[in-house]
Amino acid sequence: MGGTGLENLILQDARTETITTPYGVVTVDIGHFGGQNAPLVFMSRHGKGHTLPPHLVNYRANIWALQELGVRKIIATAAVGSLASRLQLGDIVLMDQFLDFTKSRPHTFYEGGEQGVLHVDMTEPYCKSLQAVIRVAGEAVGVPLEEGATYVCTEGPRFETPAEIRMYQMLGGECVGMTSVPEVVLAKECGMCYATIGMITNEAAGIADHPLTHEEVIVSMKATGKTVAQLIQETFRI
Ligand code: HPA
Repeated sequence: MGGTGLENLILQDARTETITTPYGVVTVDIGHFGGQNAPLVFMSRHGKGHTLPPHLVNYRANIWALQELGVRKIIATAAVGSLASRLQLGDIVLMDQFLDFTKSRPHTFYEGGEQGVLHVDMTEPYCKSLQAVIRVAGEAVGVPLEEGATYVCTEGPRFETPAEIRMYQMLGGECVGMTSVPEVVLAKECGMCYATIGMITNEAAGIADHPLTHEEVIVSMKATGKTVAQLIQETFRI
């Protein structure tokens, strides 16, 4: 699942497939990656050409489509701002927990009625076994990883105020982004193994000594994107 800056992963023999879900239509690329036999499904979270802002991403359609295709494990990428001094620009981070500050997104497949009710367990939102493989891949390709991070998910599309960032810091947030929730929750509802590789693209508002721009995030992502693609390739190989 490619986030900002990873809207494309170069697949071999790729075909584009359109999947109709109860929540909308989703397009993915399916092909081979890094010379492996098993097929890889690549989905661009924000749509091709980054046309959907985080609060309008059709998270339910995306996860439903992946499940329909038989996907069992999702490696998600996410551009994030840092709230913690241990997380520096360009660092690659594995998420461990989240704090949910989203406001207006459908959060579940289980809305009562025919779908029933589900209170999904969130003790371990991000998949430990997949993270273990990513860790081994990181060691193999010499990409250092920061681990155990708490992701604050905001509604966006605006960036945060410095006061909000101070509040998130007090609550234990270490990096901030706009997309992990409800994506990780919906994947969990489907019983899928989901891990997020975060890329620190900026210091959060008020920590940075300048106003934030989306361009800054894109420029940082371009610098780190290749390393992340390499990390994903090795993870997939293992
Ligand atoms: N805030 C929210 N989302 C983000 C940021 C940020 O600072 N950087 C990248 N995505």
